[in-house]
Amino acid sequence: RAGAANLLDLAGRHVLVSAGGTREYLDPVRFLGNRSSGLQGYALARAAAARGAEVTLVAANVTLPDPAGVKVVHVETTAQLRDAVLAGTTTADAVVMAAAPADYRPSAVSDTKIKKADDGSAPSLALEQNPDILAEISRHRARPGSVVVGFAAETGDAETSVLEMATAKLARKGCDLLVVNDVSGGQVFGSTENEAVLLDATGEPQHVPRGSKSALAHAVWDRVVARFETA
Ligand code: CTP
Ligand code: CA
Repeated sequence: RAGAANLLDLAGRHVLVSAGGTREYLDPVRFLGNRSSGLQGYALARAAAARGAEVTLVAANVTLPDPAGVKVVHVETTAQLRDAVLAGTTTADAVVMAAAPADYRPSAVSDTKIKKADDGSAPSLALEQNPDILAEISRHRARPGSVVVGFAAETGDAETSVLEMATAKLARKGCDLLVVNDVSGGQVFGSTENEAVLLDATGEPQHVPRGSKSALAHAVWDRVVARFETA
């Protein structure tokens, strides 16, 4: 990242970042989950701390070491992630939802380990949709004037491009900025690099070329700082 001119441009700000992927338990030993590594969220937390922010990092099932100088809250389920994020929104000047919450959870969680059927049959899973944390905190700003950033990993399909899907998602969520990853090329999970388009409701999409997750993190904070300055 070029120059040290705005090195402390987040001083005096409280930011909250979510990272990792949630788990939804079926019983004490089994869960539905996803492969989010938490690397991008941790890079965002580290970059914000380096720029002087007070940082709360809500980490869902991330095995990386806690970044220095960052308050880390470890959670497992989407309900716990939601509680921890909502608890931070009253003081946070910016919230960046880099976490991948599971879209669904089992309708019932068994207190005891579910036993395999003797007759060779398989159960079906009844699921319920999880609350949409990003949409909730975007619609209801606990701290007026706070900036809310979401992530979207999209492949597009035969009818709709990645950018069209992302534009619809930005409107649906109501967040200020969306970090869009085109994942149609395949493997992104656990990669140390990232490439994205930063999308807001009014400006041109900003392409951030393939580079370190730290570089993308700083590009996101640059946009957040710009919003603070024009607010
Ligand atoms: N998100 C959230 N709560 C959820 C699901 C997603 O806060 N229950 C947030 C993610 O952290 C991310 C953004 O919403 O910042 C977009 O997540 P994504 O999975 O792309 O959105 P969905 O609305 O779940 O849409 P999709 O059908 O594409 O999965
Ligand atoms: Ca989803």
